Amino acid sequence: MDESQSLALESVTVRFGGLTVLDDLSLRFGHSPISSLIGPNGAGKTTVFNTFSGIVKPVSGSLLLNGKDMTGHSPIEIARAGVVRKFQVPTVFHNLSVGNNLKVAAQSPRIETAGSAKDIRWSTGDVAEKLGLSSKMKTLAAELSHGERQWLEIGMAFLAHPRFLLLDEPAAGLGPEESDHTAGLIRTISEFCKTIVIEHDMRFIRELGGDVTVLHQGRLLKQGTMEEIEADHIVRDVYLGRDADA
Ligand SMILES: Nc1ncnc2c1ncn2[C@@H]1O[C@H](COP(=O)(O)OP(=O)(O)OP(=O)(O)O)[C@@H](O)[C@H]1O
Ligand SMILES: [Mg+2]
Repeated sequence: MDESQSLALESVTVRFGGLTVLDDLSLRFGHSPISSLIGPNGAGKTTVFNTFSGIVKPVSGSLLLNGKDMTGHSPIEIARAGVVRKFQVPTVFHNLSVGNNLKVAAQSPRIETAGSAKDIRWSTGDVAEKLGLSSKMKTLAAELSHGERQWLEIGMAFLAHPRFLLLDEPAAGLGPEESDHTAGLIRTISEFCKTIVIEHDMRFIRELGGDVTVLHQGRLLKQGTMEEIEADHIVRDVYLGRDADA
């Protein structure tokens, strides 16, 4: 495949104390604009994101961005190289307005995007419109609903011009309408950068489209289309059958 657009772990092992959380794991993203990462609680999904963003250092194995070895690089270096992360809990500036939050994000150091065909500079107004927050530019982030705060944070991450945007449970705690809006937003964003989404809600993942990677006990169980994943007996046993609709 085209290595110029890939984010990968090769034979990565991560241990916390005596616990092996990622177990000789090899994974590659980038072939699809949107990828979902699923698996039971404690499977190691967030740890994969932490390893991708340099927050967690593997005991062995490599982290590769566009074929380049980034193992051991700092979180800041990795973010500058274009791997941008949204955390499980929203981290916006509560005492700033929506507009000012977006301005702060737009002023963050530019990622080198030379050579990227989709390197379009968005204004904060354009982004607010895509987020569905145009009418709330002057509203303090503290006054937003949980869903609106999630959208704001996705917009802020997008303004950093990622090559890979990592979203950890962006639909957690959202109602069906908010969840649909989030899926639409992620689909729009994925036209401009590769987007990897951790989620539990299978309806949401179906809505996103793209390929699906299933993690179980720190190992890769399966990577494929939603149809392939749903048809897989082992995946059904360890995950889908049990808490897919939880
Ligand atoms: N910093 C840490 N120190 C010790 N153990 C950790 C640490 N981070 C994660 N773990 C453990 O590693 C395992 C995998 O955690 P991780 O957060 O990656 O799972 P997850 O798939 O994201 O789960 P969830 O769906 O609940 O968010 C769990 O057993 C967790 O308790
Ligand atoms: Mg997690």
